[in-house]
Amino acid sequence: MRIDFKNVDISNLKDYEKKAMDAFDTLINKNGEGNDFLGWIDRPVDYDKEEYDRIKKAAAKIQSDSDILITIGIGGSYLGCKALDYATTNYFFDDSKVKLIYAGNQLSGSYLKELLEYIKDKDYSINVISKSGTTTEPAIAFRFLRKALEEKYGKEEAKTRIYVTTDKKKGALKSLSEKEGYETFVVPDDIGGRFSVISAVGLLPLCAKGVDIDKFMDGFRKGREDYTIKDFDKNDAIKYAAIRNMLYENDHAIEVLVNYEPKLKYISEWWKQLFAESEGKDHKGIFPVSVNNTTDLHSLGQMIQDGQRNIFETVLSVKNDNSNLEIEEDSENLDGLNYIAGKSMSFVNSKAMEGTIIAHVNGGVDNIMIEIDDIDEKSIGELFYFFEIAVGVSGYMLGVNPFNQPGVEEYKTQMFKLLGKPGYENK
Ligand code: PA5
Repeated sequence: MRIDFKNVDISNLKDYEKKAMDAFDTLINKNGEGNDFLGWIDRPVDYDKEEYDRIKKAAAKIQSDSDILITIGIGGSYLGCKALDYATTNYFFDDSKVKLIYAGNQLSGSYLKELLEYIKDKDYSINVISKSGTTTEPAIAFRFLRKALEEKYGKEEAKTRIYVTTDKKKGALKSLSEKEGYETFVVPDDIGGRFSVISAVGLLPLCAKGVDIDKFMDGFRKGREDYTIKDFDKNDAIKYAAIRNMLYENDHAIEVLVNYEPKLKYISEWWKQLFAESEGKDHKGIFPVSVNNTTDLHSLGQMIQDGQRNIFETVLSVKNDNSNLEIEEDSENLDGLNYIAGKSMSFVNSKAMEGTIIAHVNGGVDNIMIEIDDIDEKSIGELFYFFEIAVGVSGYMLGVNPFNQPGVEEYKTQMFKLLGKPGYENK
């Protein structure tokens, strides 16, 4: 993985180096705010091996008796999994060992109704994932889907098809699992939702799908090797955090994560949650948005090229493209494309990316480049770890606690009041 900052004016970066290194020390020495949620830093090497084996066994059982695993969860309890799932699935032939279908990540009745209809004649299991065990969206989805599963297979067999990932000791899901005897996996106390893809939260559904979780862990280990180095010039995660803060103080309130491969779409969704929930506090923070190019060059591209100059871009590119699709010569050339005959699609896509960067930089948009080797488990594990260290450093530089999300509670309070939940009458 390579990061390139050549299209950012870093003449003032020296001013941010000390602050970035202090923030990095606070993170790594675990002596800042939110320091009880830093279990993800060493998790690539320090994890529960017994549970890791149990994940593989449960995944094998799911593969043996189910075509579908319904993965119920919201926010950090599904986005990392969805990101790697989507990145590693064929666009048209889903050849996964088990197809992952997501539920409980919104409150749409029509989504749930259509899902219940779709799974009627399918063999499926359920993995309900909620650290708190009380989040409304997954709780409602689980109530519907558990009933459907019990009606289909009977209560006893249904119990063997329900996998619960939740807190080790507390919460409604934990008590329900104990009462019903569901197999449970742990969301570690010291890992917050948006950092939890490396735990059973991501690993169980991904392993059931057929993703190589050993390689995914290897990627995290490589990330840990590279991005816990205490050296500003050698650690690009610290530098990325410093540059983000420098740009933010220079009126760049929006960061756009850009990709040129549709498979990276949900990596951007995971990234948006990571940065928004970590930094958006005390009326501060860079607003993270994403575009999928070249598609969005024909929509949001206009705004990036020519709109208000308060944005910068971080482009996520992929080094290896194995599609080998070459544009052929056409004797009539009515479409006028013979000038690129003999060129591969990947060449054309890369020139579109390079051309766009030149245009945007000329238009006053600073540009950071992140290149991963491949769209695979290892590269994505490494990329996730890079962003996690970067957001920790960046959040501390900004002066917020990057590891809580107090703002998420506000909508719940107002929703519960409107729904008539006991205890919320006078909120
Ligand atoms: O990152 C976070 O902590 C949140 O996005 C949570 O993952 C999300 O709110 C879901 O919470 P829970 O797993 O408790 O259901």
